[in-house]
Parts: sequence; structure tokens; C-alpha cells
Amino acid sequence: MNYRKFDLKKDKEAVYRILNECGWVHDIKKDKYLNAFLPKANTLVHDVNGEAEVMVTSSNGTIRYQDKTLKLSAITGLTASLLARKQGFAGKLTATRLALDAEKGAEVGALCIFDQGYYNKLGFGNGNYEKIVCFTPATLKINRKVKTPVRLTGKDFAKIHKNRVNRMPNHCAVTLPEYTTEAEMGEKEKHIGFGYFDKENNLTHHLWLSGKGKEQGPFWIQWMAYENLDQLMDLLALLKSFEEQVIMIRMVEPALIQMQDFIEKPFQVRAMTRKAENQNYIFSTAFWQLRILNLQKCMKKTHLNCADFSFNLQLTDPIGKFVVEDIKWHGIAGDYVITLGNNSSAKKGKQKDLPTLTASVGAFTRMWFGILPASSLVYSDGIKASEELLKKLDRAFLLPPAHVNWGF
Ligand SMILES: CC(C)(COP(=O)(O)OP(=O)(O)OC[C@H]1O[C@@H](n2cnc3c(N)ncnc32)[C@H](O)[C@@H]1OP(=O)(O)O)[C@@H](O)C(=O)NCCC(=O)NCCS
Repeated sequence: MNYRKFDLKKDKEAVYRILNECGWVHDIKKDKYLNAFLPKANTLVHDVNGEAEVMVTSSNGTIRYQDKTLKLSAITGLTASLLARKQGFAGKLTATRLALDAEKGAEVGALCIFDQGYYNKLGFGNGNYEKIVCFTPATLKINRKVKTPVRLTGKDFAKIHKNRVNRMPNHCAVTLPEYTTEAEMGEKEKHIGFGYFDKENNLTHHLWLSGKGKEQGPFWIQWMAYENLDQLMDLLALLKSFEEQVIMIRMVEPALIQMQDFIEKPFQVRAMTRKAENQNYIFSTAFWQLRILNLQKCMKKTHLNCADFSFNLQLTDPIGKFVVEDIKWHGIAGDYVITLGNNSSAKKGKQKDLPTLTASVGAFTRMWFGILPASSLVYSDGIKASEELLKKLDRAFLLPPAHVNWGF
């Protein structure tokens, strides 16, 4: 399995062909993902008959674990051309990308899925459900007058990115580099933003949406950034101010609030719009996945509100067989002694007289981030431990809801 770094000059035509065959890119000259994002990201290609036919890219970012920050490798693109599918190239190239990132210090891996199952083979496990809220702004219940915002465009990407970096933190929040914000801002014909500045001219809260130019929407809120919930109320008041014209706004529910609290008669409106083009409703789906890349470092940054306890962990990790041989990092399978508590740790080895937890890396990651309790993972992910140890783990990982709060 060959792999090498993407080179825009050399690979532009071939990588355009890959991206075009999968339907993502249609303009070789202007496309931001191809011309600006991929050269700045950690992009690898696999050659078939001397030309790139598979590409994978990751971005170095951070992910929060409660109030600690961990180093993240976010897989921000994977695709194989139509002549390179189902031959194992894509999976191996992704595993190789993650292995190289782990060697450079990434502690956690994250990605968004095209479907469930594929990345589980590389040790990933489902993240939390995200709620997608579809509402008519006239139904917004927000007791505040709109404040006049400033219009934001693609040229404001640096200020916008800074506001995103400084946004109100939440458990599991992902932050990626500036070039990702710049690329995700899309085309000026379809995207627009509005925000508020403080006296020092710092953007303190804003939203970025697609759907510009559509008479009645729908608008898709690509992201919102705010430093506190009061500023979020300003942004909701701004969305409410569109109510005479715009019929539909859709967005991922902001972390730390329940959008239904801010919607007038949600059940009646949902019933009235059932089967309608602009149906008002909230649906959930788990579309991102996570996996630990460095267990020792992750445990070191884990501070739990429970009495200390220890156990043996027998960890399986399926990624090893996909990583090319010349890379040393082949996953994190093995035996560890885990201690959880205010100061947690993972040490290689086994200790007599301790209870044992058997888990895959995906399942352990899900438990560790508080996605599901250990007792439930017994049935969904096949983890094994005594009842007593499962109960202790359930209590230890009572964490705030995990939300990545960043599209990638
Ligand atoms: C996603 C993509 C890269 C996968 O390419 P591929 O060539 O099929 O991948 P691989 O050869 O590595 O893996 C194929 C294997 O994965 C399996 N697989 C695919 N989807 C699966 C799923 N949801 N659950 C379990 N296994 C799955 C296949 O059955 C096949 O198994 P086999 O090796 O036992 O035959 C390719 O379909 C693509 O480019 N899609 C368009 C772009 C895209 O959606 N990218 C992903 C963004 S998240």
C-alpha cells in the first residue's frame, strides 16, 4: 500500500477527478476545498497506476474533555475515485493518516460519518445524538428586541474564526484551524453572516448561514459562536426578526440549552406542518464518531468526581491491521491498569486482585466521553466486566452531554 503527501501542483487534476467523481467538487479553478483547504491540511494520496486515486485529509485541532483540552486529529475528508473503490485503499489510507497523527501527538481522533459501520472497523464509536431543529422563526419565543448586527462576509474570516475559538466552551467541543473556517464559509452568493462587536472591536457573537438569496428560506445555520448564553439570546432575537418573510430555519441545537423551551406551541405547530415542505420538528442523529489515540495521555487529563478506584483493562483495537507496516504506531490494544478519580491514569500491564474490564477502543472511548454508561455498552458494544465494576464506571462517567459544536 503506497501513500504520499498531496502536492497541489502535481496532483491537482487527479485529486479534482477523485472529488468530482464523488460529486463534491465541480470547479477545478475556484473550489476552496481543493485549492486552499487540502494544501493546508494533512492530506495524503494513494496512487494507482502512477496517479492519485484515493485521498484522505486530517486537520490538527483540539477537543475538550470537561475543562481540559486534548490534541485532536479530525478526519476532514476521505474519498476514493470510482476506479479505486472496495479494494481496501481508503480504509488503509485513513488508518495511516491517523497513525501518523498519533505519532505526532494527537490524543483523540474524530470524524463525521457517511454511514455507521465503516469507521467502526478503525476503532471509532458513535458520539452523542445531535438534535436538528427545524422551526419557523415566527414561533420563536424570545423576549428581547433585535439589536442591529453588523453584516459579515468571507473577508471577515479571521475575526469570525477568533470568535469561534473563544466561544463558550462545552464538553467535547472541537476547534479546528483558521483555514477550515475560511473554507467552510462557502460561496458569497449563498452564504452570509451577522454579528456583534464589543467596544474594542472584537467580534463577540455571530452566526453564519447558508440560504442567502432564497425568498422564504430555508436558512441553514452553519454555526453560531457566543461567549455566554445572553449573547445566544441576541442571536435568537436576530433570527426572530426574520419572521415576516422567512418560513424555515434549520440548525443543530446549540449546546447547553433546549430549543423547545424557546418555541411557541411546538406540538401544535409540528402537527399543523406534518408532511409539509417546511415541517417544524426536531430530530436526532449521531453523525460523528470518536476514538482514543493515546490512552495514557487521555487518562492523565481525566479528572472525575468519584472516589479513586482501579481495574485491569483488556483493550482491543482493530486499526492495527489497516496501518502500513513502516509506521510504528499500530493502535493502542493491550493490557492496562486504569485508575479513575480526581487524578486518573493508565499504566501498561496487569495487576493481580483487580477486577477486569474487556472493551474495544470505540466502546471505551464512548464510556469515557459519557456518551453511554458502561452498563449499556455491555449490550451495544460487547464490553465485559463484573456488575460491581460496571456500577462504579456508570457513576464515574456521569458527565455533561458531549457535543462537538463544529461542523467538519
Ligand atoms: C467512503 C469511501 C471512501 C469508501 O471507499 P471504499 O473503497 O468502499 O472503502 P474500502 O475499500 O476501504 O472499504 C470497503 C469495505 O468497507 C465496507 N463498508 C462500507 N460501508 C460500510 C458500512 N457502513 N458498514 C460496514 N462496512 C462497510 C464494505 O462492505 C467493504 O468491505 P469488504 O472489504 O469486506 O468488502 C467511498 O465510498 C467514497 O469515496 N465515497 C464518497 C465520499 C464519501 O462519502 N466519503 C466519506 C466521507 S465521511
